Order: sequence, then structure tokens, then C-alpha cells
Amino acid sequence: MSAHTPPNPHDLPRDPNGDEAPSASPENPETETSSTENEAGDGAVLHRRRIRSFVTRAGRVSTGQRRALDDLSPRFMLPFEGAPLDWTTAFGRTGARVLEIGFGMGATTAEIAARRPDDDFLGIEVHEPGVGALLKLIGEQALDNIRIIQHDAVEVVEQMLPEGCLDGIHIYFPDPWHKARHHKRRLIQPAFVATLVSRLKPGGYLHLATDWENYAEQMLDVLSANPSLQNTAADYAPRPDYRPITKFERRGLALGHGVWDLLFKRI
Ligand SMILES: C[S@@+](CC[C@H](N)C(=O)[O-])C[C@H]1O[C@@H](n2cnc3c(N)ncnc32)[C@H](O)[C@@H]1O
Repeated sequence: MSAHTPPNPHDLPRDPNGDEAPSASPENPETETSSTENEAGDGAVLHRRRIRSFVTRAGRVSTGQRRALDDLSPRFMLPFEGAPLDWTTAFGRTGARVLEIGFGMGATTAEIAARRPDDDFLGIEVHEPGVGALLKLIGEQALDNIRIIQHDAVEVVEQMLPEGCLDGIHIYFPDPWHKARHHKRRLIQPAFVATLVSRLKPGGYLHLATDWENYAEQMLDVLSANPSLQNTAADYAPRPDYRPITKFERRGLALGHGVWDLLFKRI
């Protein structure tokens, strides 16, 4: 595929509903750029190629999701800011602090938050229908321990989460980016994992799950190589009780597909 050929839909990230992402932006994921002022601060703008773990998808927002976005955003959404997040103010209390990256439609997030009412969950997602869907669940289930930021999680972690502030991190079924030339877009890379680990308190945990074997192997390699992490299992971990089995995970399991959980702790 040349640099200007749209990607094959089978190589695009899976839709949070469990399908491939047919509505993915036609922009080529290889050529995303961002603009920043140069270091001299003289106003000249540098166009720097950024590799992102997601593509911008239009995605239809349903009427119920739109209503939830309109009604509940002021209470449960936090703005992206280039300054440390004040968790106590954001949640109105001090509970254990858990970050979730890429919550999709939020069903797992809501279920875990309901099962663990004493813990506070910060969910990050870029896809607007997913944000609306989680807000809708928050409203329906009267959940008070979830806050949402709609932004690239890499920037949220780098700019809003200080070192040692988290008790746990959840990343469930991150986009597998099947083709080898797109593996650089996978979230679980040594540098980003090092950043994530630095945000954990000693004893804090990093919990990943994937249904793509090649990505599971990469996850195991990357996490095992981080000197500040200790595996809680010999290799892959049993699914902890708090993580529910999702609809499409159940479908995959019925077809004989595997699912791999990884549960590591910060030393
Ligand atoms: C395959 S879906 C999985 C969703 C969900 N965790 C689940 O298990 O159903 C991956 C999600 O991660 C989101 N995502 C990928 N990279 C992201 C990033 N850097 N920041 C925020 N969200 C991201 C995508 O928009 C997508 O909704």
C-alpha cells in the first residue's frame, strides 16, 4: 500500500461495538500531523508527524447518547488541561484512583465502577458516541465514581497525571493494529508503558486484556522487560472477578478464540 492509499478496512481498529471500524476517517493513519510552535517561540509553526493509537471516526451519536452528553457532561466530564488533575475536587472525595484508557462504549467501565463503589475511575476515550454511551450508563445506574476526559490518553497521562498518583490502570482490548507496519500504533510500547508505570504508586497495578494473540505476546514482552513491574502470574493471569466478560468477548470465546489478561504490579 502506498502512503496515499486508504487503509484496508480489515486493518483498521475494531469498533468498540465489536465490529471493524467501517466509518473510520479516510485519512491515512500513516500521515497524521500535528502543529506546534517551534522551540525558539518566534511564532514559526512546525508540522510534526505524530503516530497515534486511534483514527478519528465520525460515528453516529444516538438520541439517547446526545441527551446524556447534553445533560451529564457538566457533572461527569473533565476538560483536557496541560496541568495536573485535582482528583479530590473532581470526585468530591478521596478513593483509590484507577485510570482506564479506551473504554469504548463504557459497558465494562460502568460494571466495574458499580462493583467497586469505593474506588474512583477516570475513563479516557476519543470516540464521542462511546463517551455518550458511558454517560448514559452513568445516568441510568446513578454511578457517582466515574469521570471522563475525551482526549488522546497519551497526552492526558503525560500532562495531567503526576508521578505516583494512580492505584491502578485498566486497558481492555486496545486496538490491535493487526498489520506489522501498523504495530507502531499499538498503545503498549516500552516508552508509553514506562510513562504509565511512573504514574502508578508502588504496589499499584496495570491490568491489560486482549483477544489478539500476537498483541498479547507483545504485551507480555514489554511488561516483563520493565524493571519496575512484577508479574502477579507466571505469564498470563486468570481474569480477575471485577472484569466482566464483554458481549463480543463471549462471542469470540464461543468460537474458540482466546483472551489473555495480564496483571502486573509496580515494585
Ligand atoms: C477496540 S476498542 C475497545 C474498547 C473497550 N475497551 C472494550 O473492551 O470494548 C479500543 C478503544 O480505544 C480507544 N482509543 C484508542 N487509542 C486511544 C487513545 N490514545 N486515547 C483514548 N482512546 C483511545 C478507541 O477510540 C476505541 O474506542
